[in-house]
Amino acid sequence: MRILITGGTGFIGCHTTVELQNAGFDVVIADNLSNSNAKVLDRIEKITGKRPDFVKADLSNARECALVFDTYTDIQGVINFAAYKAVGESVEKPVEYYKNNLGIFLNLIENMTHRGINYFVQSSSCTVYGEPDSLPIKETSPVKKATSPYGHTKQIVEEMLSFITKSTPVKAIALRYFNPIGAHESALIGELPNGVPNNLMPFITQTAMGIRKELKVFGNDYPTPDGTCIRDYIHVVDLAKAHVVALQRLINKEYKEDLEFFNIGTGRGFSVLEIIDSFEKSTGKKLNWTFAPRREGDIIQIWADTSFAEKELGWKAQEDISSMTLSAWKWQEALAE
Ligand code: UD1
Repeated sequence: MRILITGGTGFIGCHTTVELQNAGFDVVIADNLSNSNAKVLDRIEKITGKRPDFVKADLSNARECALVFDTYTDIQGVINFAAYKAVGESVEKPVEYYKNNLGIFLNLIENMTHRGINYFVQSSSCTVYGEPDSLPIKETSPVKKATSPYGHTKQIVEEMLSFITKSTPVKAIALRYFNPIGAHESALIGELPNGVPNNLMPFITQTAMGIRKELKVFGNDYPTPDGTCIRDYIHVVDLAKAHVVALQRLINKEYKEDLEFFNIGTGRGFSVLEIIDSFEKSTGKKLNWTFAPRREGDIIQIWADTSFAEKELGWKAQEDISSMTLSAWKWQEALAE
């Protein structure tokens, strides 16, 4: 069965392509390469023995999007990763974020409904929950007012899907990711941020590599056991596998609602200092870091209740934190070779 993976050369998209191909699916990737590199296709081929088809396309452009479906008339499902994703940038360029992230989504859905393609998996985020009232957070917890245009686009797509899946044959699953880190065990694919990383893990590995002088730990006076923020970090390979089971649930008509939401995390929270500690222990590298003021917009702590995904998808994260930090480091080392 042919699946379209939008944004498939990006961090989560390429790991998901590997897992889908391993599960026997044929993949066509559509990506505009604005934040990724076509070389990743060689790497995917090296890992899986199979090269995914690839179309360079700006899916926010209606004509380019339709051309992908015209070229690959055997597409039966879509996994949508194509989106701008920098929180800070989205505050500065809200119109671009709405136009791109919502435009891509609408173009995809329009083509799907016109062509009778009914399975849709959407890349969503725990950011839709905002600062949780109670932990761990369940899928039934309220969606709070968005604090950035980026987060808002994730919320809007979820809401649009809830109406679209009611009145069309399209059925969908939105996976709400917690914090994906780590890399494939082959160290052939991983996260490759453009410029100075915003996210914690690539900043850590680049600092350990000497590319950055020191890591700034944002805030040491949060009401948490060690004063730093807590997140639910999840290995990107575990996350990729969740997409395979979500897609199979749609194909096998095992869903219980037209649109379902699942938390994709480990169910365990780690503070920034615990991540640094895990990185140092798993790699044997000493990290240069210092405390800095809080980063605006950071939530204090969040981790997932994953029982719904376990029960319904039969999916549970397998990798522990040291495997996440070690694989991220091995990827960073491989990049330097
Ligand atoms: C953010 C977004 C999330 C998005 C994710 C991945 C929000 C609330 N969250 O998550 O939607 O999916 O990025 O793109 O918008 N930290 C440091 N020093 C650094 C970098 C980070 O101390 O140099 C700390 C942060 O304060 C935070 C933790 O590390 O406590 C994780 O930060 P980060 O990796 O940026 O992810 P989130 O902000 O949780």
